[in-house]
Amino acid sequence: MLDLLKTRRSIRRFKDREIEKEKVDMILKAGLLSPSSRGRRPWEFIVVNDKQLLETLSSCREHGSQFLAGAPLAIVVIADPDVCDVWVEDASIAAIIMQLTAHWMGLGSCWIQARKRYRANDEKTEDYIKRSLGIPEKYNVECIIALGYKDEDKPPHDQESLPYKKLHFNKY
Ligand SMILES: Cc1cc2nc3c(=O)[nH]c(=O)nc-3n(C[C@H](O)[C@H](O)[C@H](O)COP(=O)(O)O)c2cc1C
Repeated sequence: MLDLLKTRRSIRRFKDREIEKEKVDMILKAGLLSPSSRGRRPWEFIVVNDKQLLETLSSCREHGSQFLAGAPLAIVVIADPDVCDVWVEDASIAAIIMQLTAHWMGLGSCWIQARKRYRANDEKTEDYIKRSLGIPEKYNVECIIALGYKDEDKPPHDQESLPYKKLHFNKY
């Protein structure tokens, strides 16, 4: 597990290669297996592999989302705040579990933040994503996970330089 966590890096350049259906299914199953507050599972996942839609979504942010146009697939993580008040935590956990599962299968991924972010024209990122994908009004959008076969190499995190000073034992 630590090896998996050390070697997971945000990947923003992808090969022009589709992800096999079995792998996508496994990533989605991992998302559905995520723990959630009171087991409410407020999240839902939208799988996008339509090139035109990926291009459209790539402009959901002024910065930090453009690389999505070069990804073969994205999973948009949305949640219904009426189902659970701590939907942000639930949706985030599901997103990282799907990212780790993808990494475990040799795929690269990167989180694109949607909540509290804006497009270049000051439109809310969430509103744009909802409009682009026909997501019903009641849902909130947590993030988009870009996925694909890696077309960049990144070194693993160095265990020696972790911020150990952030650790506290018993009292702060
Ligand atoms: C909550 C969250 C939001 C993020 N938002 C973005 C984003 O919008 N665009 C992007 O390119 N990367 C985004 N990232 C990726 C981070 O930039 C990245 O995880 C961080 O720089 C550490 O690098 P690493 O993932 O390679 O360890 C986000 C990551 C998290 C956890």
